[in-house]
Amino acid sequence: MRLDKLLGELGFGSRNQVKKLIRSRLVTVDGCIAFGDNMNVDPSLQEILVRGEQLRWQESLYLIMNKPKGVVTARSDKKHPTVLDLLEDDDKMPGTYPVGRLDRDTEGLVLLTNNGPLGFRMLHPRYHVSKTYYVEVNGKLGVDAVRFFKEGISFLDGNKCQPAHLKLISSAAVKSTAYVTLSEGKFHQVKKMFLAYGVKVIYLKRVAFGPFVLEESLLPGSYRQLNEEEKNLLKAFLD
Ligand code: URA
Repeated sequence: MRLDKLLGELGFGSRNQVKKLIRSRLVTVDGCIAFGDNMNVDPSLQEILVRGEQLRWQESLYLIMNKPKGVVTARSDKKHPTVLDLLEDDDKMPGTYPVGRLDRDTEGLVLLTNNGPLGFRMLHPRYHVSKTYYVEVNGKLGVDAVRFFKEGISFLDGNKCQPAHLKLISSAAVKSTAYVTLSEGKFHQVKKMFLAYGVKVIYLKRVAFGPFVLEESLLPGSYRQLNEEEKNLLKAFLD
């Protein structure tokens, strides 16, 4: 891989900033000052230092996190902690980002990676990646709700949702619970779908995203690396 491309992908700045870094003789490869930005390097075989610090390079980072309430699914935020703030220093690899967004008050499964194209593809409508949420609402959910979601809800602004699958768990006048599965990700979609039906979401947790299911043992705020079997499931998005 070209040295400038590698440093760019690892978050060392724009193409021009990276070029400047290399030309300022601040990058070494196996102890020698890098001689050009188009130099071919392999970080798995060579020791690359930037300003004397070794590149923390890993083929790819794939993490599954149980996002707690109050945390923002973004790379940075001026007011609130982000999912990246929850990572151990060793996992704070340059270029790491959360795939998709959950609202600040939503809990549950978030995938984090430093693999650039993966997020774009998993969120692209062409791949129809499904997302399942556990939902608590402040009113009754009848069987008519199942039909309503299946027909494809239209919001007041004219935005139309794809059909979604609603599985009722419990229903009562003050509080009902359900799982809802959808394969798109409009802004505040789940909350707006339930509002369109006439109830308000009071608790929302994503329990599945594509082939991944949130296990109970992964407590809010904690995360783990995907295992090899799970990484293989991502191949469908990377070929
Ligand atoms: N839909 C919502 O309304 N909020 C989320 O966080 C995710 C899906």
